[in-house]
Amino acid sequence: MTNPSLLILPGDGIGPEVMAEVRKIIDWFGAKRGITFDVSEDLVGGCAYDKHGTPLHDDTMAKAQEVDAVLLGAVGGPKYDALDFSIKPERGLLRLRKEMDLYSNLRPAQCFDALADFSSLKKDVVAGLDIMIVRELTSGVYFGEPRGIFEEGNERVGINTQRYTESEIDRVARSAFELAMKRGKKLCSMEKANVMESGILWREVVTEVGKDYPEVELSHMYADAGAMQLTRWPKQFDVIVTDNLFGDLLSDLAAMLTGSLGMLPSASLGAPMDNGRPKALYEPVHGSAPDIAGQGKANPCACILSFAMALRYSFDMGDEATRLEQAVNAVLAQGIRTADLLNEEGITPATTAEMGDAVVAALDASL
Ligand code: NAD
Ligand code: IPM
Ligand code: MN
Repeated sequence: MTNPSLLILPGDGIGPEVMAEVRKIIDWFGAKRGITFDVSEDLVGGCAYDKHGTPLHDDTMAKAQEVDAVLLGAVGGPKYDALDFSIKPERGLLRLRKEMDLYSNLRPAQCFDALADFSSLKKDVVAGLDIMIVRELTSGVYFGEPRGIFEEGNERVGINTQRYTESEIDRVARSAFELAMKRGKKLCSMEKANVMESGILWREVVTEVGKDYPEVELSHMYADAGAMQLTRWPKQFDVIVTDNLFGDLLSDLAAMLTGSLGMLPSASLGAPMDNGRPKALYEPVHGSAPDIAGQGKANPCACILSFAMALRYSFDMGDEATRLEQAVNAVLAQGIRTADLLNEEGITPATTAEMGDAVVAALDASL
């Protein structure tokens, strides 16, 4: 049997720093669990632009289409601010999502016990929190046409278009209902049907799909009210399904329920391939964090937990995924934290590498 294949795209800023820690975890699974991946590495984002003049080379795109899973660090940075929009680092990531047709972006927000005190919200609001945001990832205002900056009379106009077809809503809704069936059987759909036609269609289609999942309790909320409810009492939610832009905002908001953006992983999944597994890209929710890049301060947990999601969703290794998640929890419980998870003066934060080493030690302890 051939080894499962993994394409690693560390990207820019803290991307390579956090990915170096994931490499340690991958090596640990090879050495201690006999789970070996065929790992290849390539460029995406600003570093790809520096080498090839494009944020994603066609060869890299082709590789991403062939492997069992892609693991990405982060893209972007101020160095690339002045680049033309079409070749900005972020376009590389958007191309991967679009061409791999990764329409269902799973962004779990789980509050690790050890961090319940750390959230900017009260402990009883977040303790034990375990919600899943399903963000539509390949359509909506991110990709709708017409788009651009145009001359109109004596001024310019910037245009983006929110656009959703029934089938696009149907497939992401189905993936959210399927997840809800495996979890708490509750799904809340968020849009703005009060002001947007795309929201009206979204609500209709989700309701229709819901008829195939009678066991799932379906509710609808306007996305602005949803943002409020997420901070008021997030534990009322189990699975949330929403569009591309609302999902982007709501998942960053949900990150702070868990303590730090440095903790939030994600899985971007497409339709099943011949082997029955979905096309998939795993990446932290956070970006390249230019303010802390190159200083060994980045929290590698979001990227490590993204690899755990790969174990679960691409490689059917749910038990090993849980082992890795528990190792992260154990490290946090020992009080080993990167700077983003500390607010008391006088405590020396762990470096990115120390955090990765601690997770490896916790994995050892799990055997
Ligand atoms: P960001 O997520 O990079 O950073 C926001 C804040 O969170 C910063 O203060 C940063 O230091 C902190 N932070 C983020 N990740 C952290 C981690 N792992 N450990 C500790 N602290 C962490 O968002 P931004 O500053 O708005 O964007 C910076 C660049 O990243 C931009 O070019 C943006 O387009 C890009 N970006 C990329 C992705 C991606 O690659 N998936 C996601 C979001 C933003
Ligand atoms: C994310 C990021 C991306 C997005 C950017 C970098 C293209 O913010 O993954 O959340 O807006 O989707
Ligand atoms: Mn985002």
